[in-house]
Amino acid sequence: LCVDLSLQLFAIFAFATCGGYSGQLRVSVDCMEKASSNLSIGIDFGYPFRLHQVAFEAPMCEAMRRERVFLAGDYSSSAEFFVTIAVFSFLYSLVATVAYIFFLNKYRENSQRPLIDFVVTVVFSFMWLVSSSAWAKALSDVKVATDPDEVQLLIPACKDPTNRCGSVLGPRWSGLNTSVVKAQISSIGGLCVSF
Ligand SMILES: *[C@@H]1O[C@H](CO)[C@@H](O)[C@H](O)[C@H]1NC(C)=O
Repeated sequence: LCVDLSLQLFAIFAFATCGGYSGQLRVSVDCMEKASSNLSIGIDFGYPFRLHQVAFEAPMCEAMRRERVFLAGDYSSSAEFFVTIAVFSFLYSLVATVAYIFFLNKYRENSQRPLIDFVVTVVFSFMWLVSSSAWAKALSDVKVATDPDEVQLLIPACKDPTNRCGSVLGPRWSGLNTSVVKAQISSIGGLCVSF
């Protein structure tokens, strides 16, 4: 029961921090031709981290022309896998908790129930471990891909050394870091209690 409740809490937490994440970064493009500069270009992104679909307008540093630039990478499979496992373990733990409370007598009579429960919990804990590890790896790649210093390299005008590009603001990651850590703690906790 304790495992169920902790899975539930961590699932809510993971969903709230990964599934609900949205962040922003800002870069500046300071053209030699000052009038066409944009010193604060905001780029918003979030779950499910399909960064290759996130576009922003950057000055071309010639006349007043602008062009669309896309971020690089698609991390949606790991992010969606992580959130899906969180949602399913949440639903499972909810059903298991309700069943445990309301059908405690039947639970005791049926000798196979605890075994099924045990197997399902082990499977979920394993999925947690796999999905949170995959997400941890994807998250470190997302951090690189959304680092304003890296994003500057994608802007064609920044390749010309006469224009100066800079980072204004990087995305905040505090919530996402804790989601990975907590998911891993809970999966390890789940496995330990299961065995
Ligand atoms: C700079 O870019 C932002 C988009 O991030 C846009 O809203 C703003 O109008 C641009 N400023 C100039 C001076 O082009």
